[in-house]
Amino acid sequence: MDAEKIFIMPAFEVDTELRSGWAVSRRPFYKPHKTTQTMALDLSKMREEYTSEGLSRKDLHPSPFMQFEKWFRQAESAGLREPNAMTLATVSAEGQPSVRTVLLKYFDERGFVFFTNYHSRKARDIAANPRVALLFPWLDLHRQVRIEGLAEKVSTVESMKYFMSRPRESQLGAWVSNQSSPITSRQLLMMKFEEMKRKFSKGQIPLPDFWGGYRVVPHTFEFWQGRENRLHDRFEYRLQTDGSWLIQRLAP
Ligand SMILES: Cc1cc2nc3c(=O)[nH]c(=O)nc-3n(C[C@H](O)[C@H](O)[C@H](O)COP(=O)(O)O)c2cc1C
Repeated sequence: MDAEKIFIMPAFEVDTELRSGWAVSRRPFYKPHKTTQTMALDLSKMREEYTSEGLSRKDLHPSPFMQFEKWFRQAESAGLREPNAMTLATVSAEGQPSVRTVLLKYFDERGFVFFTNYHSRKARDIAANPRVALLFPWLDLHRQVRIEGLAEKVSTVESMKYFMSRPRESQLGAWVSNQSSPITSRQLLMMKFEEMKRKFSKGQIPLPDFWGGYRVVPHTFEFWQGRENRLHDRFEYRLQTDGSWLIQRLAP
């Protein structure tokens, strides 16, 4: 039988300046942790062999935006569910990374736009540190796309345009939810929804001043295609100071 296990996590300090210039807190943030639980799931035998057609340098579009569009259309026509769902990573003022899914609403050569609450955790992170990363996990195609860049708020006019295109209930939802804040019950949320429904029963629902879009302006893309024997194809596009994109193959 497994004896009681005690995992001692190291208390450590990080005092290096990260390359981005963000100083990480010197506070030790791991405390000794005692648990009686043993590992419940062993997933080490779960493996899929990727036999997809490869990605080669000659297939790549010189523009990462065009390459993204090509792959996005393929993800769409392959019938993937919500191919516009992307993981957004942000980093707090204290250097704590966090991730969540958001929906890409549109993109062009200026960047990738999603909408959210400007008081949410992600928004607070972005206000402190605009460096973000996106991930499109198109696993059924044995593909992923990684994007890194800077997030900036879109104009109020741009947010308004998108807000007006949303179903009325989603517009009300934006008013109701104080996103990322603790709430006491779902009932309270529903009561607020009904209250807002009454308040805005006539005419257009206005754009809340705490809600809108962010545009992620990329400086790096990576297109990843799974291949056999874990020898995957990876191509990175890196923005150069003259505005061109340097394309390099990366080791898998
Ligand atoms: C498929 C999917 C799509 C989502 N799309 C959005 C979105 O476009 N905007 C948004 O604010 N939250 C979206 N969410 C909810 C977020 O994942 C997250 O719970 C919320 O934004 C609060 O995140 P935060 O507390 O880190 O700010 C989505 C969740 C899922 C699962």
